[in-house]
Amino acid sequence: MDGNGRWAQQRMLPRTVGHQRGRRAVRLAIEAAIEQGVEALTLFAFSSENWARPADEVNTLMTLFTTTLRQELDELHEHDIRLRFIGDRRPLPAEARELMEAAELRTAGNQRLQLCIAISYGGRWDILQAARRVNEICSQDCDDAAYESAFEAALSTHGLPPLDLFIRTGGERRVSNFLLWQLAYAELWFTDTLWPDFSKDSFAEAVAWFASRDRRFGRI
Ligand code: IPE
Ligand code: MG
Repeated sequence: MDGNGRWAQQRMLPRTVGHQRGRRAVRLAIEAAIEQGVEALTLFAFSSENWARPADEVNTLMTLFTTTLRQELDELHEHDIRLRFIGDRRPLPAEARELMEAAELRTAGNQRLQLCIAISYGGRWDILQAARRVNEICSQDCDDAAYESAFEAALSTHGLPPLDLFIRTGGERRVSNFLLWQLAYAELWFTDTLWPDFSKDSFAEAVAWFASRDRRFGRI
């Protein structure tokens, strides 16, 4: 979800306003996902690298995250949405961690949409934490297939369906440490639209493009 800062700067507004408007786009994306029959949606809210932003922006983003979660949880639950958070929780404020755990527990039985929020997330972090855990489980004589399935199970996205479509807004053509392992066969959609302007129509456009792809997974 890239482009909040530029959206605000283009309007001579503080970056914070861009993040606030980005929140609206998150709601639209969730609604669009449900309307399009999407099974799982993962939103990249805050990366491992975003910790290096100025402290006031980091604080703004954390507060926006906790307030939004607090305000929207009831409605998400009513809509049968299951919430999950992926990322390194250790540097997150205690308040955020508690809210996240409570939201995951409360929505655990929901089925309509799996909504996954990547916060303090990095694809490299995910691979490294999985490797660390799988090495504890798998012995030396673990065969390749068993190792691979243990590794997959140790990734933070375990239980989510395979990743089909990646959408990056904001004009950059890069993956920026998102779901590195999981992106292996995803279709990649890049758009210049800044995240606050990303609408239900933008979402539908990406899904329609995805539906037109011929996916061979290395076969012919
Ligand atoms: C949102 O966009 C991404 C977040 C980290 C919340 P940016 O804040 O990266 O916006 P730009 O790239 O400066 O426009
Ligand atoms: Mg950016």
